[in-house]
Amino acid sequence: MRARAKYIIPVPSSETVMTQNIIRKGRLTEFDEHASRFTSSVVTDAWLFYYDILVDLAHIRMLKTQAIIGQTTYKALKKSLLNIKERGYPQLPKDVDDVHVAIETALTSDVGTAQAGWLHVGRSRNDEVAACIRMAVRDALLVLKEAVLALQSTLLERAADNVHTLMPGFTHLQHAQPTTLGHHLLAHYDALERDLARLGNCYERTNRSPLGAAAFASTGWPLDRDSTASTLGFDGIIENSMDAVSTRDFVIEALATASNLMITLSRLAEELILWSTSEFGYVELDDKFASTSSIMPQKKNPDPLELIRAKTGTVVGALTASLVICKALPYSYNLDLQEVTPHLHQAMDTTVDCVRIADAVLRTIIINRDRLAEMTSVGFTTATELADTIARATHVPFRTAHTIVGEVVRIGTCDLDTIDRVGIKHVGKPLSLLGLTADDVIEALDVSHNVASRNVKGGPAGSEVARMIKTRRRLLHSRRRRLSLQQNALQRAEKDLLHESGA
Ligand code: ARG
Repeated sequence: MRARAKYIIPVPSSETVMTQNIIRKGRLTEFDEHASRFTSSVVTDAWLFYYDILVDLAHIRMLKTQAIIGQTTYKALKKSLLNIKERGYPQLPKDVDDVHVAIETALTSDVGTAQAGWLHVGRSRNDEVAACIRMAVRDALLVLKEAVLALQSTLLERAADNVHTLMPGFTHLQHAQPTTLGHHLLAHYDALERDLARLGNCYERTNRSPLGAAAFASTGWPLDRDSTASTLGFDGIIENSMDAVSTRDFVIEALATASNLMITLSRLAEELILWSTSEFGYVELDDKFASTSSIMPQKKNPDPLELIRAKTGTVVGALTASLVICKALPYSYNLDLQEVTPHLHQAMDTTVDCVRIADAVLRTIIINRDRLAEMTSVGFTTATELADTIARATHVPFRTAHTIVGEVVRIGTCDLDTIDRVGIKHVGKPLSLLGLTADDVIEALDVSHNVASRNVKGGPAGSEVARMIKTRRRLLHSRRRRLSLQQNALQRAEKDLLHESGA
């Protein structure tokens, strides 16, 4: 019984704290200490600290322009906010609701209520936190984009080195048809291309400012919403003030996008795990990205890849948690929304980490081309081409040719004699009499011929794969340029806000 007691979360006595709490002191008496810790987001808000400083700076700049505060107050507030930024998050009071109150509390101790008391005019934490989260998400999306582009570049280069590396392609994890490693890697590249497009779409809807919505009904102060939006590098505002504070759909979208991306990564990771087993032997991980066993000295384990596979669950879990938290919340703001933010933060960090590690593993992985070539024909992978060849040479319908080849595979000998014997059963005469030659059969069974003949758009033929690599190299280049334009726009806005002259 005693040992079990260790696992019970201690409920503190109802000692009280926070009598000096700047927002609480008018309406309420003291907060219960446990309730205070339970409701506070101050620990997880560390992620939002820097963004909140920027949001505060943009807000006071607009208050000054709108003549709501004077130049002296503006200067004092700005100086203190920059100091608070320099001192860092750990220096802020922790026994408060959240980062917003923590900053305002520090500001009040720095410059006094006569000036700090104007920071929150025409503003609520509801629009404030939504702005901070949107800024954090847009940064995370750009970092993710950069990581995805790097991984895509690695996939392209490895594909380019393996345009002619034969390998078996799988369906149902059974050998199916011959293909090339280049073609296979490009498939992962293209999946990432869609992930990248989704990141871009999500960015467009995320990069909108909710500021000026205040609690939900906006304000009677003459705020300029467009100005705070552009100061902070937003591409516009979330117009309806109630919508602006109520929604976390952009968070769900970011998490859904991250989940899709993680699923792409997990499939790549799973293949590399399989391919590095003794059964496959297609690849070997660089020692830098493998682990061993504490008891089995021979082991080389693909730990980073296993964790990519596992962390996909973590990210999908964050999406699921956020969906369920947001479901059926009445408008406008509810504190339930606070519970979403840590899931978002963890999921975005995890996803970036996974993309980067996948890139590093792939960049260094050793490819066993001989083994891939050896396995390419195992399991009658050329059977489809043989059926196609029979249909082409003899004009026997494809389905009949498919049945004949199926039976030949069952017999296990794939030569013209066997095909003729089986053919008589199904079409009444040997297929050699209908135009099938021994050379046709030999060619159909040749794995290189199989691949080379699959030259329809998007197929594995060397010419097609080379063409796809070329167009994707160009695409990658233009994606990189677009990303750096977005990064520069945000950097410019931030630099201007922090270092504006004449303030
Ligand atoms: N910590 C809160 C959050 O993350 C900030 C907004 C709080 N608003 C409120 N009315 N209590 O959502």
